[in-house]
Amino acid sequence: MNPPVPSPTPELSARFDAAGGKPAYVRSMFDRIARVYDLMNRVMTAGMDGRWRGFAARQVALRSGEQALDLGCGTGDMAIALARHSPPDARIIGVDFSEGMLAVGREKLRRLGLSERIELRQGDGQRLDFADGAFDAVCSAWVVRNLADIPAGFREMRRVTRADGRVVCLEMSHPYNPVFNWGYHLYFDQLVPLLGKLIGKSFDAYSYLPSSVVSHPDAPALKRIMEDAGWRDVRYYYLLGGVVAVHVATNPASTPL
Ligand SMILES: C[S@@+](CC[C@H](N)C(=O)[O-])C[C@H]1O[C@@H](n2cnc3c(N)ncnc32)[C@H](O)[C@@H]1O
Repeated sequence: MNPPVPSPTPELSARFDAAGGKPAYVRSMFDRIARVYDLMNRVMTAGMDGRWRGFAARQVALRSGEQALDLGCGTGDMAIALARHSPPDARIIGVDFSEGMLAVGREKLRRLGLSERIELRQGDGQRLDFADGAFDAVCSAWVVRNLADIPAGFREMRRVTRADGRVVCLEMSHPYNPVFNWGYHLYFDQLVPLLGKLIGKSFDAYSYLPSSVVSHPDAPALKRIMEDAGWRDVRYYYLLGGVVAVHVATNPASTPL
């Protein structure tokens, strides 16, 4: 039986309905904030987001000649972290449905001389345009929470991962210490939307962020969702007291999709 995925808050549901559904809302929001996205990440996390992607990239541990998918690659920072933590002949393909985010990402790859190693493509993460088993590993950073159907998302990731390949999912989670959790929510729910208004000119997008975390499964529940999708040896690591969780798992050779 599938573990329940919490419903979005009524306020978020209303936003999704007004936009014509969650994917339409999420896509147009990222199109809108693409130019300030990287700066906001650095400011909101006091520069820690790069270290968290580095941790996820080390879990992916791409080997020589391997190919990884960066699902929901956005402006390319996770794909770049993967490239930096892998041999030069490992190949990375990023997929995102926001053309605005991809445009920023492609400029960045050109600037960094990484366009040969990393390819960014437009596409829907829930219906990937790749053959079964096309990748040695699939990685995502701050994406799963945005999917319209998280269990189906993990099944689709498994479809495109080869047998014995791995998945790494970096996502916001829920701090386990109640006092820290209180302070974190004060910052995240009150201050982050104001920073979004000030720096990103978008209160709406940066109030979506805390609301979407409230309705995101906690780390043990996300582990069960992944197991239900057929992933095995699922384990997770908390970063910054559970503000972020990184789930890692293997695609069993023996279990059919
Ligand atoms: C918070 S950003 C993360 C970007 C990047 N992974 C990073 O580390 O900064 C989430 C990204 O996921 C993308 N996204 C969300 N749902 C998607 C879907 N169903 N298909 C493709 N991209 C999706 C959004 O367009 C956005 O660029």
